Amino acid sequence: MQKLTSVSEMQRVAEEMRLKGQIIGLVPTMGALHEGHLSLIRQMAETADVVVVSIFVNPTQFGPSEDFAKYPRELENDQRLCEEAGADVVFAPPVEEMYPKGYSTYVTEEFVAKPLEGATRPTHFRGVTTVVAKLFNIVRPHQAIFGQKDAQQVAVLQKMVDDLHLGVQIVVAPTLREPEGLAMSSRNRYLGNNQRAEALAIYQALKYATEMVAKGERRPDRLIAEATHILSQKRRVRVIYISIVDRKTMEPMREVEPGRSLMGIAAWVDETRLIDNVVL
Ligand code: PAJ
Repeated sequence: MQKLTSVSEMQRVAEEMRLKGQIIGLVPTMGALHEGHLSLIRQMAETADVVVVSIFVNPTQFGPSEDFAKYPRELENDQRLCEEAGADVVFAPPVEEMYPKGYSTYVTEEFVAKPLEGATRPTHFRGVTTVVAKLFNIVRPHQAIFGQKDAQQVAVLQKMVDDLHLGVQIVVAPTLREPEGLAMSSRNRYLGNNQRAEALAIYQALKYATEMVAKGERRPDRLIAEATHILSQKRRVRVIYISIVDRKTMEPMREVEPGRSLMGIAAWVDETRLIDNVVL
């Protein structure tokens, strides 16, 4: 497995792969890898000839009061995990390579990115679309894989690819969960045992909504009220939003359409901000 840090070197290696006719699969990550990330790498290894994993804690997607500085960084361990999962290249550029002094160009998607996460993290998706567009230009992948865990991120990136004719196939992978149901996340390592136990209520609320829909409930306000009630039992949990939206456009839905509607939840568990979702 190759370990690269410079943009120009990554571009040269990717160009060579393209010239050999290899299908390039990209797995963008911010590191602190867990089984959820590794499942993306393994899935990509099944369809692509070469798998490039990028590891870059992207400063532009963090708000000024967010956890950029304390976000876990463990490159050596991550590189080992990537190799075991079947990656061919790990691309881990330093911040100055991606955003040299005087950097001033951004990519913004202005519709799908607005509600939910966009409403409470106003510059977040601008950072995500910018860094992913840059990674696409550096690696020139045929395919890139993202987790359904970040459902709005998937929808925003698919829109960017369509709108800008980027010609990269977006593959979506299912959310991996801990045995009790908590969605795996690099931020889970901020949680102590009590917080972790209370964070589980997010999954329980989503599961309860799924069960209500299976029994015929179609009214978003009823589902949101039940989910709110479940979360309100937990002392450490503060809801940021609970929304039922169209999974592609993120627009609110007036009635649940099974398979098309998504319930998304964001909540603080003490100082840790967690998100999760299910397709209803
Ligand atoms: P990060 O949070 O490191 O996640 C990298 C990829 O792993 C994303 O596509 C995310 O959806 C996926 N992922 C995270 N937890 C998962 C889980 N439990 N099950 C399945 N997939 C999971 O998302 C980002 O980084 C960044 O925004 C990035 C796209 C790399 C741009 O900086």
